[in-house]
Parts: sequence; structure tokens; C-alpha cells
Amino acid sequence: MNDYLIAPSILSADFARLGDEVTAVLGAGADVVHFDVMDNHYVPNLTIGPLVCEALRNHGVSAPIDVHLMVRPVDRLIRDFAAAGATYISFHPEASDHVDRSIGLIRELGCRPGLVLNPATPLQVLDHTLAGLDLVLVMSVNPGFGGQAFIPSSLEKLAAIRRRMDDAKSSARLEVDGGVKIDNIAAVAAAGADMFVAGSAIFGSSDYKATIAAMRSELTAANPGAAAAV
Ligand code: DX5
Ligand code: ZN
Repeated sequence: MNDYLIAPSILSADFARLGDEVTAVLGAGADVVHFDVMDNHYVPNLTIGPLVCEALRNHGVSAPIDVHLMVRPVDRLIRDFAAAGATYISFHPEASDHVDRSIGLIRELGCRPGLVLNPATPLQVLDHTLAGLDLVLVMSVNPGFGGQAFIPSSLEKLAAIRRRMDDAKSSARLEVDGGVKIDNIAAVAAAGADMFVAGSAIFGSSDYKATIAAMRSELTAANPGAAAAV
């Protein structure tokens, strides 16, 4: 897959108007809704659950919903989010006692499995898992909060994972999450990412359409063929 997907993180949206915010950002050209689930246990923050995912589907959202589970344990919420209309479901391997089982469960329930690597998670976590994944999500901040600064060493990590995915002929998406902005998205794409979470950069801007268009034009400059294919 060589097209680029932009996935606004609704963590930075106005929760009092969430349905309208999601409609607006999709209307402004976003591809995927990134849905951050935090449990005040695996990460020190508390956000939204399956009821909100279901409410977005009932609101008419038909775009892919990319559920990023920052919870421990994970399996029960996998079931709940699959029933609530999730498209991708990704989780942190440190938070599951049986990573292979959790990946299999996501697939079994008809969703696309993803594994999330924290900044300090070694690449070895992909050793026996990559073939079963549709998504590898690289955290370029420590999980828990929006609006943090991009960790520069994430670029090297993305490049190493991209090489590994290419060697394994993996067709999974390589998604990056944390601190992605207009001014670094081209470098992140050059490192090999093809799916870009951006929370504060999009929802913190006054014109979602202009911000997403600026991101796409950076992506086009980085890789003319791929950006046009969306
Ligand atoms: C952090 C979340 C991110 C966050 C990204 O734990 O997983 O998705 O919302 O926000 P920005 O783009 O503001 O860094
Ligand atoms: Zn996220």
C-alpha cells in the first residue's frame, strides 16, 4: 500500500460537540478517525469508551475508526469495541498477557489488528506478530496525553520498522502517533510512515481543511506518487 492516510486524534476535539467535530474533520479531508482510549491505569489519563464509538457510528460516521487502546487488560474491550463499530483496534503488548491471542481475537471479530510500540518498546515485539498485523503503530511520544513534542529518535525507529516490514513483505500500515505537525510530517513520511495521527495540530487549528491540505501538500512534496493516491 503506498497511499497516505491522515488520522486526526479526537483526543484534541471539543468533546461537548464530538459528533460535529468528527463530521467537520472528515469533511475537511481526513481519512480515518483516531480514537484514543485511556483507562487511568495503563496510562495516567481517562478518556472515552465503546459507547462513544457506537454513538459516532449512530451519528452517521462511516469512515474507518482507528481505536488505539491504552488500557490494561485489553481483551474485554476488544470485544466491546468490535461490537461498537471499530475498524482498526490496536493495543500495547505490555498490556496483554497473551499478545497473540489478543491479535487473533481482533481478527476473529472482523476488525484489523494493530500493535503499538512505545518509545522504549524494542522492535523484537514484531518477531512473531508482524504477519498477523494490519497496523504497526509507532508512538512518537509517551502515551497518555495530546500536545506533546515529537521524540526525534522516532524517525530512526520508523525507518528500521519500515525496512523490516518491507523485508517481510508486510502490507500492514505503519502509523505514527504523537507530535505530528505540518512541519515534520514530510520527514515522518520519508522515514516510512504511511498513516499519520495528528491531534492538536488539526483540532488546535482554526481551519481544519487548510491544515489537512497543508499536511497533504507536504506529503506530496515528500513523495509525489503516494500522496496523490489517497
Ligand atoms: C497520545 C495519543 C495520541 C494523541 C496525539 O497518547 O495516543 O493519539 O492524541 O496527539 P498530538 O497529535 O497532539 O500529539
Ligand atoms: Zn493515539
